Order: sequence, then structure tokens, then C-alpha cells
Amino acid sequence: MEKITPKKIFSLKGKRKITAITAYDYSSAYYAEKAGVDIILVGDSLGMVIKGEESTLNVTLDEVEYHTRIVARTVSTPLVVGDLPFLSYFRIEDAVKSAGRLVRAGAGAVKLEGSRPQHIKAIVEEGIPVMGHIGLTPQQYLRMGYRTQGKKALSAIRLLEEAKQIEDAGAFSIVLESIPMEVSKEITDVISIPTIGIGAGPYCDGQILVFHDLLGIYPGRRPSFVREYANIGEVMEKSIKQYAEDVISGEFPTREESFVMEDDEREKFYMEVRKWKLSRK
Ligand code: KIV
Repeated sequence: MEKITPKKIFSLKGKRKITAITAYDYSSAYYAEKAGVDIILVGDSLGMVIKGEESTLNVTLDEVEYHTRIVARTVSTPLVVGDLPFLSYFRIEDAVKSAGRLVRAGAGAVKLEGSRPQHIKAIVEEGIPVMGHIGLTPQQYLRMGYRTQGKKALSAIRLLEEAKQIEDAGAFSIVLESIPMEVSKEITDVISIPTIGIGAGPYCDGQILVFHDLLGIYPGRRPSFVREYANIGEVMEKSIKQYAEDVISGEFPTREESFVMEDDEREKFYMEVRKWKLSRK
């Protein structure tokens, strides 16, 4: 399969829906690629689902870089997007440098939260494709909480304006998180870059979910817009419990699950053991 580029993602608008998921390590990226998704986002959601923290605020650029390197090394077809974490891009010089580090780690594009057209422009000018992200922006949760955005007409219009500014700044796509579907439909109709929704209804050009939410692996809070396609967490717990019971009862491991010596080597070994024991008396 041909490598998916930001240009390809852009060209899919209006042709077919774009599929995206987060991934952070070898196994998650491996299965995401096998399932055929277009975009893998190495999201700062790793703060919650990998590190078990309450928010994304403690995720560092070093951490996103580390996970981006693993994911980018694992997959060959999907577009890998590295998520710029809190404090790594608020000044324009930092934005360009941080984006460069994620690209050197293997990302084909970076994502940043909020309406920051100058920052986007500066990164794009250095040749790095940018995905925007508006609506609920988790890095701003101290100020905004985890609340749906754009529920009132005036704040919805502000989102429309932000989306347009992000498009004009040169972003190739934009994540719309937790906003009413009427608003995401209008944004999707008005801008020429693809919208990737999460909690933004069915009219977006594509959808993204967090890997652990989709598979039911994350024990924390699950937003109402998530569809859990499996409950792997339950399967994990049951399997580990069964394993522990089997260890205690001696049911695991069996002879078939063990390495066994060749007959002649075994005899020699026992002879040597006898000799060794005698020598120690
Ligand atoms: O970090 C993340 O996983 C994200 C998605 C929810 C879009 O930003």
C-alpha cells in the first residue's frame, strides 16, 4: 500500500470518509495499520491512557517524541501525526522547533490545539504539515473544563471563524472535538480542508477515537460520544485472573509449555547432579 500523505488526506474530502485512531506503541500501531486506518495520531491522550494521569498537562515533548518514534517505525502506510503537547508550542519559535523534533522522530505531520494561525503558518513555512484542533481542547481544561463547546450561537460562530483562520494559515486538516453536529456540519461545508470529528457528529469528513476508548481498555471516564467496539479490558482481567489461578493450582505451565531435555542429556545431567551433590557433602 502507498504511504498516506497529508496531500492524500486533503484530497479525500468529499470523496470518502477519513479514518483515524490514536496509537502509542508497537502493538497498537501494528493493529491500527492492519485494520487499514488512514491516520494514526500519537496523541497527548497518552497522559491518561498510558501514564494514568488526570489530564494531558504533564505530557512532555520527550514523551510524545518517544512514542512517535515507536509508532512511525512500526507502520508504513498510515499518516503518523505527532501531537504537540502543552507548553511545547505556545511561542512561535518553540512551535517550529517542537514540530521539527516530532518530524525527526518520524511523524508526517503535527497537530496543535487552539486557534493559533501565526504558529501554524510558521510551522507550515518550514515544510511541516499541520493539523488543527478546535472545540474542546483538553490542554485548556483548567480554563474551559471538559465541556462541549459551541452550544450557543455566538460561540459556535467563533468556532467557524477559528476553523477558517486555521485553514487560511495552511493547515491540511482540522480536528473538531466535542461540538454540536450542526456546528461541525457548517464548518465542514464552509472550509476546504477535511474535518476530523471526535464527539462532533456524523457530518465531519472523518472520525477519530482514542485507541483505548474504542477497545474498552481504559478504566477511567469514557465520554458519551465514544462507541466501545469491544471490552478488551474485561477480557484482560478475566485472562489474568485465570492465569493466576492456574499458577496457584499448578495447572500452568504444563509439560507442553516447558522445555524438555533429550533423553541422553537428561541421564547425563542427573549423573552430574548426583556427583555434584556428593562433592558438597
Ligand atoms: O490526544 C488525543 O488523543 C487527541 C484526540 C482526542 C483528537 O487529541
